[in-house]
Order: sequence, then C-alpha cells, then structure tokens
Amino acid sequence: MSVYQATVSAPVNIACIKYWGKRDTKLILPTNSSLSVTLDQDHLRSTTTSRADPGFDSDRLWLNGKEEIIAPGGRMATCIAEMKRLRREVEEKNSSEPKLSTFGVHISSRNNFPTAAGLASSASGFAALVSSLAALYALPANPSELSLIARQGSGSACRSLFGGYVAWQEGTAADGSDSLAIEIAPREHWPDMHALICVVSDDKKGTSSTSGMQRTVETSPLLQHRIKHVVPERMKTIQKAILERDFDTFARVTMQDSNQFHAVALDTDPPIFYMNDVSRSIIAIVTEYNRLAVANGGKLKAAYTYDAGPNAVIYAPKENIKEIVELIVSYFPQAEPFKDPFALFGTAGVGEGKLVEGFNPAVAKKFPVGSVKGLIHTRVGDGPRKLGEAETLLGPDGSPK
Ligand code: DP6
Repeated sequence: MSVYQATVSAPVNIACIKYWGKRDTKLILPTNSSLSVTLDQDHLRSTTTSRADPGFDSDRLWLNGKEEIIAPGGRMATCIAEMKRLRREVEEKNSSEPKLSTFGVHISSRNNFPTAAGLASSASGFAALVSSLAALYALPANPSELSLIARQGSGSACRSLFGGYVAWQEGTAADGSDSLAIEIAPREHWPDMHALICVVSDDKKGTSSTSGMQRTVETSPLLQHRIKHVVPERMKTIQKAILERDFDTFARVTMQDSNQFHAVALDTDPPIFYMNDVSRSIIAIVTEYNRLAVANGGKLKAAYTYDAGPNAVIYAPKENIKEIVELIVSYFPQAEPFKDPFALFGTAGVGEGKLVEGFNPAVAKKFPVGSVKGLIHTRVGDGPRKLGEAETLLGPDGSPK
C-alpha cells in the first residue's frame, strides 16, 4: 500500500516594514502592507512532515515531539481545513486521484532553533505546515496562493512562502483574496545581504504579537497616521532600494520603520515595551558605527530591526559583519568564543571584541556576560524546500520519530 506523505522545510523571515495591526482578526487581514527578508534555512528553519492515511481517525499535530491540541475553529484547524478543501477540488476534477481529503492527517514539525531563543517560530512553522500539506496533496497552487492560507495561521507566515525579498500586499477585498505575499526579488538578486541576530536575555513574559497589535489598533492614534501616511511611501522606497541594491536607503527605511513600530507600541494604552536596555544599547552601537562611516564620507553600513521582543536583528552587507560582531562582542562579552558558519574568525572564533577606529566607546556601557546570550550569523535565503523520504519526521506507526 502506498504511503502518502511529504516533508518540507520553511524559513524564518524578519520584516523591514513591519506588519502591526489587523483589520480582520479572523481572516488575519493587516492594516498595512509589509516587507521582509527571508533568512537562510541552512541556519534557521522549521521542518514538517504531513502524512494522510485512511487508518488515521483524526487530524493530529506534534511540535518538537510534543502533541498540540488542534482547537476547532483555531488557526491550525483553519489551515488544515483550507488545504483539504483545495485537495477536494483536485479530486473532484480527476476521479482517479486517491481521496486523501477524506483521510485523517498526522503532522510532525520541528524547529532547528530553541523556542527559548525568542525567535518567532510561527512564521516558519505555518509556512512549513502549509507547504508540506501542499506537497502531500500534490496541489497545483503557487506560493502566493499558499500564502493566502499560511496568512490565516499567522500573518507574518505568508511571507515565508518565498525566499529573498518579499512583500505582503495588504489587499482590499473583504474576503482576503488579495491579501497575499509576492516576491520582490529572489535572493540571487542581492545575495550579499547578511544578518546578525543578537539573542537578548529576557526573563519577563512579553505581550504576544496577536494581542499587542490588537490593543494598538484599538487605542493608538499614531497607528492611524502610520497606516495612512507613512507605510505606503516606505513600501515604495524600500522596494526600489532592493531592486537597485541600495543598502543605504534600505538601512535608513528599515531602522525608521523598526523605530516607528516600537513607537506605536509605546503609543498603545496601556503602553507596550518590547525593547530593553540591551536592545537600546545595540541601537546606540549601530548608530555610532553608521555615524562614523558617514563622517568618513561613506554610507550606512548596518541596519537594526526589532520585532515584538528584545532581540536585535542587524542587516548588513557581508563585508561589514566581522566589524559588527567585534563591536557587539566588545559590549556584550560571550561565554564562549563566537564561531560563525561563514568562518569569519577562522576556526578559533572571536573571544575579545574590538572597536573600529574613531568609534566613541561611551555610546554604551559594557554589559555582563549573558546579556546577549547568543549570536546567529545568517543571510538572505531561499523559499520552502521539499525534502526526501529519508527526512521524514513520522515513524511507521504515524507518531513522531
Ligand atoms: C512584529 O505574524 O506573529 O513580527 O498574525 O497575530 O500571528 P499574528 O502576528 P505575527 O506578528 C508579527 C509582528 C512583527 C512584525 C512582522 O513580522 O511584520
């Protein structure tokens, strides 16, 4: 008997123009368009196996080996139901197709990064879920069509259906049919874009994106200004910058938009704070690094951006990453020498930091070891990858391996 299953991995994406606010909370329709860079799955990814079997009496899902309840009417159930609906259309057109849409489905998903790192796993997770079901069901759908469904799992997930530089167009239709992701440029267009993720320690439980953005929609007058008068222009500017590989403009707009997102969080009643002292010090360090570059007649060399938490993501052309790591390590000493997959510092890694010449050391204080508990060096990456049978995450009995 045939085994119907598929395994896919999907990437994380980090927005430069932030999605923050929904006009429809059930369909997950945003109040503004957004744009992100897809990160390399060689370093950060979610991998998901989906299997359909007439012997499965219900749909079940395991995340990192632990079973999660698929709440009826919830986001996971919606994505699975939508994918089964698309499969049914295929079966209705071709009666020789096995009736997989009537079978139960078992889904096992794993992230290759610790959940405790506070990196958003919902984007790569829902993108991998939808992509693995699309492969299982042999759907003819293209990534933009799949993004319509991933969006209903988590808004930012729709952007993880593509590699490279991706826009989520807000759309205008009430049913959400035009609120989807499109590729602005593939990673090959601008492969020099690297990212350094600074994983910042945080013991307090933050406000989730979902509830935080809803409170912002309900209470922030600044958000209305942002939606109407700021984001549309920035979307145009950053798309042009990407097409022209203009890092200076890309960096300026990325930092402005991160700042404004955190400003609308602060403008929420009661206010929401996502950044902490460490986050703000990293802003000061990147700002001084850029000031020096411009003072020396150059252009911006790095761009920080922050999501709904204290972690910094620093985008920079590859040639600047070594200097940036040395700066960060100077202020945020690491327990172990930092080694990166691009072997920037040889096999020994970097222990002691170093300031670039002319850098004003007083922009931040030196923090204790552990304040930045880890650094991840990655770069722009590709879209979901279909993996071979050997990579399956489900055992012969239909439970996680
Ligand atoms: C700050 O996509 O996690 O990362 O749609 O409610 O699941 P839901 O929210 P989510 O929000 C992401 C917010 C952000 C900005 C961004 O990724 O654009």
